[in-house]
Amino acid sequence: MSLLKLLIFHPILMLSAFFGTADGFYEYTFTECVYSTSDYSDMVYLDSYSFNKVVDVQFNSTVGKFVGYTEEGVKYAEDWNKDKADLEQWKAQVDAFCIPNAQIFDSAVRDKAVKPKVKISSVKQAEGNHPAVLMCSAYEFYPEKIKVSWLRNGEVVTTDVTSTMEMADGDWYYQIHSELEYTPKSGEKISCIVEHASSTQPIVEDWNPSMPESERNKIAIGASGLVLGIIIAAAGLIYYKKKSTGRILVPN
Ligand SMILES: *[C@@H]1O[C@H](CO)[C@@H](O)[C@H](O)[C@H]1NC(C)=O
Repeated sequence: MSLLKLLIFHPILMLSAFFGTADGFYEYTFTECVYSTSDYSDMVYLDSYSFNKVVDVQFNSTVGKFVGYTEEGVKYAEDWNKDKADLEQWKAQVDAFCIPNAQIFDSAVRDKAVKPKVKISSVKQAEGNHPAVLMCSAYEFYPEKIKVSWLRNGEVVTTDVTSTMEMADGDWYYQIHSELEYTPKSGEKISCIVEHASSTQPIVEDWNPSMPESERNKIAIGASGLVLGIIIAAAGLIYYKKKSTGRILVPN
C-alpha cells in the first residue's frame, strides 16, 4: 500500500446551507471535494441535498449530472439536468472551487505532517504460563492517520495485538498505543513498525530486551553514590587515624 493511499481522506472544504421552504421545512445541502492523490487527478466535486438526513439528489462531477435518490429527488434531478450550461458550471467546480481550496488546505494543514516519536516499553514480563506484554507507543504526530504493526523475526504479527484508537492530545497532535502479547524466545527480534504521512519510509523501532536506559541510569547513579560514599568514609577514617596517631606522638 502506498503511503498516499493511507492518506485518503475527505476534506470538507465546505459550504453547508439550509434552505427554508414556505412550509417551514428545511433542506440541507452539503458540498464536498473528495480526493486521495496529491496531483488532484481524482478530484470529485459532490453536491448533496438532503431532507431528514436522507439524500434526495446529488451532483457528482464524475457523473456530470444530478441523480435523484428519492421520488422528490428524481423530480429535482430531471428539472436541473435540463439546463446543460448549468451542468457545465457545476462540473467546472472541480477546477474553480475544489482544486484551489485543496491546495490551500494541503499547504496549510495536510502537508504539515509531524513525525511520531516511537517507543517500545515492557508492560508485563513473562511469568510461568503468562505471556509477556510489550507496548509500542507513537506520540505527538500529525495528521491523525497512522498504522502501527509488529514484526517478529521479520514477519508481521497478526494475532495477540490490541491497539487503541488514535487519541487527540488536545494540541493538534495525536498518540496511539499498540500492545503485543507474546512468549519470549531467546534470539528473536521484535520490532514495531509505524507508517505515517510524515515519513516516506516506515519508522522501525526494535525491542531491546535488556534493561531500559532509565533503569540503567538509576543503577549507575546509585552505584556512583555508593562508591563516592565509600571513598569519603575511607578518607575520613584515614584522616581520623592520622590525627589520633599524631596526638599520641606529640606529648603535651
Ligand atoms: C462519483 O461518481 C463516480 C462514478 O459513478 C463514482 O465512482 C464515485 O464513487 C462517485 N463519488 C462519490 C464520492 O460518491
